[in-house]
Amino acid sequence: MTINTMNIVRELALTVPGATRIFEQFGIDYCCGGYRSLSDACQVRGIEIGEVVRSLEALRQTPDDSRDWREESLTSLAEYIIDTHHLFTKHEFDRLEKLLDKISSRHGEKQPELFEAQRIFAHLKEDLIPHMLKEEQVLFPFIARMEKAVGEESALAPPFFGTVRNPVRIMMMEHDAAGDLLIQLRSVTNGYMTPPDGCIGIQSLYHELSVLEADLHQHIHLENNILFPRAVEMEESIAPDLYNSANVFNEHRFLASTLITK
Ligand SMILES: [Fe+2]
Ligand SMILES: [Fe+2]
Repeated sequence: MTINTMNIVRELALTVPGATRIFEQFGIDYCCGGYRSLSDACQVRGIEIGEVVRSLEALRQTPDDSRDWREESLTSLAEYIIDTHHLFTKHEFDRLEKLLDKISSRHGEKQPELFEAQRIFAHLKEDLIPHMLKEEQVLFPFIARMEKAVGEESALAPPFFGTVRNPVRIMMMEHDAAGDLLIQLRSVTNGYMTPPDGCIGIQSLYHELSVLEADLHQHIHLENNILFPRAVEMEESIAPDLYNSANVFNEHRFLASTLITK
């Protein structure tokens, strides 16, 4: 595949190992907003496209041992997401929340944007903790059961949510909302740029928030662009009758399931 400016960002993120690192570096959205061409994405960000293409080409010449998640089992991918991204996000939410409290109470009077960052961060945490729980307790276990049933050619009890498309749709809507909050957080911190009179504490806080942002982008990319479409495709291949209108999705029950399984 030759990289040209009309390549879709999402496809590049999927097919060029390490491309997501380059997109992070240039601030190109490859998860929720990854359906635009590289040319459009660069125009939106006001970036010189030649530089991005050169960076991507350079990547393609260096060996990369990252796993190709399009080839591995869905169960392995879901486990990987929980063991790396969910674990990291939960840990960082707790740690950075305390750090934000400390830094904003010390410097918020001079730098009021810290209070705004604190509010957006709290909102992000409040949204994503139950989101990850729904994936861990309901959606990912169903995907693993489905994959096992396919492998063993055994029967699969229809899930209470009707079809996997339903929780996937909700998870993707929640990803969009998290993506919007990350944009707000980046904007309020001026692209995580320490103010001229900002102390080392703010500099380190902003750096760590940007690391969390990059990890969330990669996390959402793995779900939106690989895990979820492959799960939908698998379900379609084994159970087209799950999609009849008799299977009414009970959204309230899906949302409430996180409370039951806590
Ligand atoms: Fe997740
Ligand atoms: Fe998710």
